[in-house]
Amino acid sequence: MLLHDEGPSAVEAREKSFVLGTYTRTAFHPRSGKGAKLFDADGNEYWDLLGGIAVNVLGHKHPRLVKTLKAEADQLIHISNLYYHPAQGLLAEELVRASGLGKAFFCNSGTEANEAALKFARLANPGRSAIVALEESFHGRTAGSLSMTGHEAYRTPFLPLVPDVKFVAPNDVAAIEAAIDGNTCAIFLEPVMGEGGVIPLSDEFLAAARKAADRTGAVLVFDEIQCGLGRTGTLFAFQHSGVVPDIVTLAKPLGGGLPLGAVLTSEHIASLVKPGHHGTTFGGNPIACRLGLAVLHEIRKSNLLETVQSTGQWFEKRLEKLQSKSPAIVEIRGKGMMWGIELDRPAGAVAKQLLAKGFVVGTARDHVLRLLPPFIVPKKALTQFLAALEQVLAGELPAPAPQLAEAAPLWQRPTVNPKTEGANLK
Ligand SMILES: Cc1ncc(COP(=O)(O)O)c(C=O)c1O
Repeated sequence: MLLHDEGPSAVEAREKSFVLGTYTRTAFHPRSGKGAKLFDADGNEYWDLLGGIAVNVLGHKHPRLVKTLKAEADQLIHISNLYYHPAQGLLAEELVRASGLGKAFFCNSGTEANEAALKFARLANPGRSAIVALEESFHGRTAGSLSMTGHEAYRTPFLPLVPDVKFVAPNDVAAIEAAIDGNTCAIFLEPVMGEGGVIPLSDEFLAAARKAADRTGAVLVFDEIQCGLGRTGTLFAFQHSGVVPDIVTLAKPLGGGLPLGAVLTSEHIASLVKPGHHGTTFGGNPIACRLGLAVLHEIRKSNLLETVQSTGQWFEKRLEKLQSKSPAIVEIRGKGMMWGIELDRPAGAVAKQLLAKGFVVGTARDHVLRLLPPFIVPKKALTQFLAALEQVLAGELPAPAPQLAEAAPLWQRPTVNPKTEGANLK
C-alpha cells in the first residue's frame, strides 16, 4: 500500500510516534496539485498562496518540470561531485550571467548556502571575527546561519554559537554604518526580509552597507533565498536597488521543488576558493540542476518577471483598498509575489480560518500574514482571497494583543515562541 493512501488521522498518528517534533504541523493534508491549486486527502480544493514557502514558483505539476524530472531520472539520478555533469555548468552560467557575479557553488538548501558564504567570506578576510546582520533576520538553522539569525528565540537554546555577530535594526542607516569597521568579516542582509515579517530594506540602507563594505573590505552578502529568483519582479532582488553584493545566496525555487541551493561570488572571492575548501555530496545534483535550468527558462519564456511585476502592482492597490476598509490591517509591505499583511491580531488564527475557506497562506512572526504565491497565480485567486480575508477580519476574533496598541516597529515587538506558530513554517 502506498503510504499516501492512508487516511489523515493514521498519517498524523504515525508521525507523532516516529518523526521528531521540530514542527507544529497544521492538520492539512495536501495530496496533489495543479497550477496554483492544491487538493487535499478528501478532494477539497485550495488556492496555494504560500507556494511551499516560496519554492513552487511555477505552481504544481508544471508540465515542463515533470518532463524534465522524468527525462533526467531516466539518465542519471546521482553522480557525485568528483566527476563532470553538464547540468551544473549550464545552470552556473545562467546564474552568473544574469547576476553579473563571477562563479557559482551548488549546495542543497538555504542554510547551507549561507554557511558556504560565511566560509568564503572568511577566506577573503582571514583573522577578522565580526559579522554584521539584522535584528529579526532569518538565515537558517545550522550553526553558522543560526548565529547570524536575528530572531533571538531561535538562537537562545543553542548558545554558544559563532561569536561576534552584531545585530542592527533594519533600515537604520546610521547604525549599520557604525557597526561596520576594520574587523568586520561580512555583512549578511536579506534585501526583503521574509521570516522577519516581509520588511523591504531601503535602497539607501543597502547603498550604505555597500559603501561601508567598500571602505573596510568587509564582504557584502545578500541572502536572496526567499526574495530572489523573480519573487520581487526582477531575477535578483538587488537589481531593484542597483547595489551589487560580493556574494548572493539562493535556494527555495532554484531546484523546481527538489533541494538545491547556490552561492554566487565575485571573481575575487571565487579566486580564493581552492579544492578542499568546501564541498557537499549531493549539491548540484543532475536532476536538481536540470530542474533549475527549466525554472529559469520557463521564467524567461513565459515573461514571468513582467507578470510578477504587473500582478504585484495590481494586488498592492487591492490590498490598499482592503486596508482602507479594514481597521484590522495595520500595514501592508512587499513587492511582486511577496507580501506581508500586518494585522492587529495573531496571524495564526486568521491563517487557520483562511485555510477553512480554501486558501493556504503563511505567517511571519506572530502578527503578519505572509503570501508567497506561485508566479502563475491567477488574479481571480487573489480577488477571492481578498474577499475571504475581509470576511475573516470582520468576524469575531480575539481582541488585539495589548502590545500592539503602540505602533512599535515590528522588530521591536515581543517575539513569537518558536515552539508554536512561527515554527510550523520553517
Ligand atoms: C532568507 C532565508 N535565508 C535562509 C533560509 C534557510 O533556508 P533553508 O530552509 O532551505 O535551509 C530561509 C528559509 O526560509 C530564508 O527565508
